[in-house]
Amino acid sequence: MKDKKEKLKERHFEAPKRLVVAMSGASGAQLGIELLKTMQDFPHWETHLVVSKGAERTIEQETKFTTEEVKELATKVYPVEDIGASIASGTFKTEGMVIIPCSMKTLAGVATGYSDNLVLRAADVTIKERRNLVLVARESPLSPIHLKNMLYLAELGATILPPMLTYYNHPVGVEDLTKHIIGKALNIFDIDIKGFKRWGETDIRAI
Ligand SMILES: Cc1cc2nc3c(=O)[nH]c(=O)nc-3n(C[C@H](O)[C@H](O)[C@H](O)COP(=O)(O)O)c2cc1C
Repeated sequence: MKDKKEKLKERHFEAPKRLVVAMSGASGAQLGIELLKTMQDFPHWETHLVVSKGAERTIEQETKFTTEEVKELATKVYPVEDIGASIASGTFKTEGMVIIPCSMKTLAGVATGYSDNLVLRAADVTIKERRNLVLVARESPLSPIHLKNMLYLAELGATILPPMLTYYNHPVGVEDLTKHIIGKALNIFDIDIKGFKRWGETDIRAI
């Protein structure tokens, strides 16, 4: 017969970790798609997705996916207008949020606390709860407005992670560059993705 302690141990299970993922209307919809796909390799994590109207447009313009197909990659999806969704409250426990890609409009909204949609409200909550916020901010060239907003958010503790080209890992194509950005973004949450080439840990010239 099992003792009380053993029974309690069986009943106790570790709740899955939650990552809020937002896609906004900057170029690079594929980055968000690949991040959602990658997260499926981590069954102990849930992805809570919100897609802005701008992102619906870039998904259509830049990828072979429909917005509905992208949404199917997430554990849970929330309409961007639903400012009363669970991720709009700090009491809903998450490990943080990634906005990938992050447009300059969304960046500005986050920087000013102008939370008129669920992407912005969830980011506002992430900041107020002092959780990790990663902004894969994309525009080129960057204006002083963009740079000031980035500096302000970086000073608040957000991670500004523009999808920059990286050559030291000897990328073969855009897939490798994409994977590297995703590896860097998920690294903030201690999620180690397969094939992420870390400097100093492998002889990357030999791969
Ligand atoms: C094909 C396409 C590409 C775009 N690329 C960018 C971009 O790289 N960076 C950016 O800040 N805005 C870009 N925009 C403009 C944003 O989508 C627009 O400012 C939108 O209002 C952003 O809203 P959201 O952040 O709520 O998605 C792009 C728009 C389109 C249609």
